[in-house]
Amino acid sequence: MSKTHTEKNPSKRADGEYVTLIDHSSDKQYNLSVLHGTEGPKVIDIQSLYKDTGFFTYDPGYTSTGSCDSTITFIDGEKGILRHRGYSIENLAEHSDYMEVCYLLLYGELPNAEQKSDFVHEITYHTMVHEQLLGFYRGFRRDAHPMAIMAGVVGALSAFYHENTDINDPEQRRMATHQLIAKMPTIAAMAYKYSLGQPFVYPRNDLDYAENFLHMAFSVPCEDYQVNPVLGRAMDRIFILHADHEQNASTSTVRIAGSSGANPFACIAAGIASLWGPAHGGANEAVLNMLGEIGSKDRIPEFINRAKDKNDPFRLMGFGHRVYKNYDPRAAVLRESSHQVLSELGIKDEPLLDIAIELEKIALEDDYFVERKLFPNVDFYSGITLRAMGFPTSMYTALFALARTAGWIAQWKEMIKEPHQKIGRPRQLYLGSQERPYVLLNKRG
Ligand code: CMC
Repeated sequence: MSKTHTEKNPSKRADGEYVTLIDHSSDKQYNLSVLHGTEGPKVIDIQSLYKDTGFFTYDPGYTSTGSCDSTITFIDGEKGILRHRGYSIENLAEHSDYMEVCYLLLYGELPNAEQKSDFVHEITYHTMVHEQLLGFYRGFRRDAHPMAIMAGVVGALSAFYHENTDINDPEQRRMATHQLIAKMPTIAAMAYKYSLGQPFVYPRNDLDYAENFLHMAFSVPCEDYQVNPVLGRAMDRIFILHADHEQNASTSTVRIAGSSGANPFACIAAGIASLWGPAHGGANEAVLNMLGEIGSKDRIPEFINRAKDKNDPFRLMGFGHRVYKNYDPRAAVLRESSHQVLSELGIKDEPLLDIAIELEKIALEDDYFVERKLFPNVDFYSGITLRAMGFPTSMYTALFALARTAGWIAQWKEMIKEPHQKIGRPRQLYLGSQERPYVLLNKRG
């Protein structure tokens, strides 16, 4: 086996710069160090703020809070930039493949030919799941949502592969990491097969990662199934585009779950649960449901007006992002990819794509969306491509989870290796009652 890259962990730069916090109630001043990353905004180091000043900070939704340092992914939301380990997402989507991107996220460098072949071999030879796990699936109702099954089955991996749950052993960490990446397509495809009532399809080692997934999802034992290479490549691209996205809700969930020392399978199950929500990964399913509900181009203005109405909870799904205040670079790649897939499949009239393109055009010109910098995000075009490939909407978020596992596990691994890693434990601004005497039941009104 060739030697995999070992990650370098650069130290944070303080440079002696600081900001001063003035507490006018006590006339005290505190100097807070300013840290410089390789790129991105400067960061005020408040780690000793409570100890030094007695203050907590207040930042619900963490809009201004950096929870860790990381060398994996860089996003400049104003410019619409996404890079993994310094490589732009456009370059990776164009020239790389998902296996390389997994290696890059995990080990910090693109693999050389030998490292890539060893990595692909190891992933390929861990794609089968323990046969007893099949019985686990049969415990779910047939109409269970694939994300419910994924959260349950991935959590159960810690019971099936408990020999790799000692997070302090680097070899066990490596094994668990590779097992997760290898088994996710099998687990997701099995969730899909179970919902259809079709037999589970075993992985095939002669196919690449994305092709093997399509084979497990769409083939049946009674006939031959050839993976269309254009669809295989489109699937691989979707995996690349969803592989990591720095400290989003599900990744932060994985990190915070892992910060207590929980095992990696349990942490990824927690990430899957967090991803499921419609404000996060569940948006791809919600986009298709919304396009279906709009139904025709002439109804777009009605839905745009609803999205702008503060008394209506409706939002344009697939629009807006906490970090991107520009076109999401992943959406741009997916827009092109969706056209390639539709053309390969000879789908000339896809009413939902027509509605999506028109909706995007109208929203991008509307003052409400322009002023708030609400652009299409990754989920806007992924559903259209997946629908053309034959996936039902309920599988979209499961595919997101499959692809994001590489990012989650790379971020988890980075956190575990951090020498000063601490359990994640935010504080709060308490607004409840102050101490009051207990009232006996017979004295309560
Ligand atoms: N439709 C209509 N208005 C919106 C939308 C939308 N999709 N997104 C944000 N706004 C408005 C919002 O009402 C607020 O307006 P105002 O300033 O007048 O109160 C303003 O834009 C800022 O929104 P916010 O909710 O404060 O922003 P946030 O950073 O907390 O939320 C978001 C980000 C992604 C949750 C949100 O844009 C949203 O709900 N989008 C739709 C769901 C979606 O597509 N999610 C996928 C995100 S990308 C993939 C992923 O991360 O998994």
